[in-house]
Amino acid sequence: MNNRFTRRRFLATAGVAGATVLGSSIFNLESVWAAPVMRRNLGGMAASDPVLVSYRKAIKAMKALPTSNPLSWNYQAAIHRTTLPGSYTAWNTCEHGTHLFWCWHRMYLYWFERIVRKMSGDPGWALPYWDYHNASQRTLPAPFRDPTSELYVADPNRGSGWNSGSASFPASYVDPSAGMADLDYFSAQTDIEQVPHNVVHGALGGWMGSVPTAAQDPVFYVHHSNIDRYWNLWLAQGGGRHDPLSDATWKNHTSTFFDETGKAVHMTCCDVLRCAEQLNYTYEGEPPEVKEYCLRIIFPWWWLVVQVLIHWPGPPVELGEREVTVPIDIAQLRERIPALLQSKNERLVIELDNVVADRAPGVVWEVYLGAPPNTPLTSESPHFLGVMTLFAAGVREHAHGEFKPEHFTFRANRALEASLRTKQEKLPLVFVPTGPLIDGKPSHPKVQSPVRIGAINVAIARQEERKDNPIVPERPPQEPKQPK
Ligand code: C2O
Repeated sequence: MNNRFTRRRFLATAGVAGATVLGSSIFNLESVWAAPVMRRNLGGMAASDPVLVSYRKAIKAMKALPTSNPLSWNYQAAIHRTTLPGSYTAWNTCEHGTHLFWCWHRMYLYWFERIVRKMSGDPGWALPYWDYHNASQRTLPAPFRDPTSELYVADPNRGSGWNSGSASFPASYVDPSAGMADLDYFSAQTDIEQVPHNVVHGALGGWMGSVPTAAQDPVFYVHHSNIDRYWNLWLAQGGGRHDPLSDATWKNHTSTFFDETGKAVHMTCCDVLRCAEQLNYTYEGEPPEVKEYCLRIIFPWWWLVVQVLIHWPGPPVELGEREVTVPIDIAQLRERIPALLQSKNERLVIELDNVVADRAPGVVWEVYLGAPPNTPLTSESPHFLGVMTLFAAGVREHAHGEFKPEHFTFRANRALEASLRTKQEKLPLVFVPTGPLIDGKPSHPKVQSPVRIGAINVAIARQEERKDNPIVPERPPQEPKQPK
C-alpha cells in the first residue's frame, strides 16, 4: 500500500516538475519530493511486490559490474568487510563493538539504498525491514528462499534449514528489550548490537554468520534496516534517551561511501541523526521522528556506572559442545541483595569479560542464573538471563587492526530475586549451547569454535545523570545539509 502511495506521489510530482527533469537525471527529483520515502515492513510482502522486484533487478545489475566499480555488488559488500584481495577506497570499514555501530551502518544502508534506486531504475525505492521480533516473521522471508531469485543464496552459504523454511528464531534470539530499556545511548547500542543483531547473524550462519562475507547476502540489508529502525524506536521512548551528542569521537569521525554516480562521499554521525529530515526516509509504523541536533546542548546526559561486587576467582571458562556450569558464591552479598533489588536507578548485573573465540562459534548460548537442579531451563524461567554469541568483537579471525575481546552485561535482578528464595549457597551460572528451531523444535548445531570467558563478575550498574562536561560544539555552527 505504501509503495503504491509512494509511486503515485512520485508520478504526480514528476508531472509537475516536467519532462526535462526526467530526461536529465531522475535523481534530481529527490530535491522536489515533498515527503520522505518509507521503508516498509517485509512481513507478508509478496515476491511480486515492486519493492522486491526492484531489489532483484538492482542486484542483478550490480553483480554484472566489475568488482572495481563502487556500484558493484562485490564492492558494496566489501565496504562492509571482504575476503577479496585488493584495497579499494572504503573497503573493510564496518564498525562493530565500537561507538559507531549504529551510525556507520545507517550511512552504509543509506548509500546502498541510493545505489539500488539507480541500478533498479526505481527512484522511489526504499529498503524494506525484516521485523523478526514479530512472531509471524521468525523464518527467512519466503522471497529470499526462491532458488530462481537474486535474493537467494544457496546452502551452505546459509545455515541449514533457512532456505527450506524449516529453521526459525526462538523468541529470545530476536528480543530487543534489553537494549530498548537502556537509557544511555552506548549501552542501548551495545545491547541491540548483541541481541538481536549478532545473534541473528550467528543463527543464520553461512555468509551471514561471518563478518567478511555477511554483506554478500541480500538479507543482510533487510536485517540492518530493522537494526537501524531500533535506533529510532529507542529514541522515541524518551525518558532521557538522547544521541551521544557530547561525544567528540562519535560526532567527528568521518566515514566514506559512494553515491549512485560512483563518487566518494564523506559523512559523520551528525549527518544521520534525523532519518526523515536529513536522509529522506521513515519506517513504516514508527512514531514521529525525534529531532536531535549536533549543536543543541542537552542535559541531562545518562551514563552507566558499573561497580564490581564479586569477581569470580576461577580460571577462564571454556564454552563448547556441552552445557557448562560455573558456581557463583554470593554468600557475602546475600544481606545486601534485597535492598539492591529495591533500588530505582541501580540494578544487579552479571558481567562476562574478555570473551574470545578464534572463529565465529556457530552456536548461541542461553545463560541462566540460580536455577535449582532439575528445574527445566527455558527462556520463560525467571532464571533466564539472555542469549550470547560472538559475531565481530571477540572473534580473532575477524580482527582488523586492533583485536577487541567481547564483553556482556546481563540484567540479573529477576534471576537473583528468584534465587534468594532457593537458599542455595552457590548460584549456578549455566551456559546452554543452542541453535535455531528446526520445525519448531530445538536444534543443536556443531560448535565451530569454542568460546573462552576470561572473567565473570557480579556487579551493580547505575544510571547516572551526568551534569558536568558541558557540550561544546565540535563543528562550525551550522547544521549539515542533506547529503547530495
Ligand atoms: Cu556490520 Cu550486521 O554487521
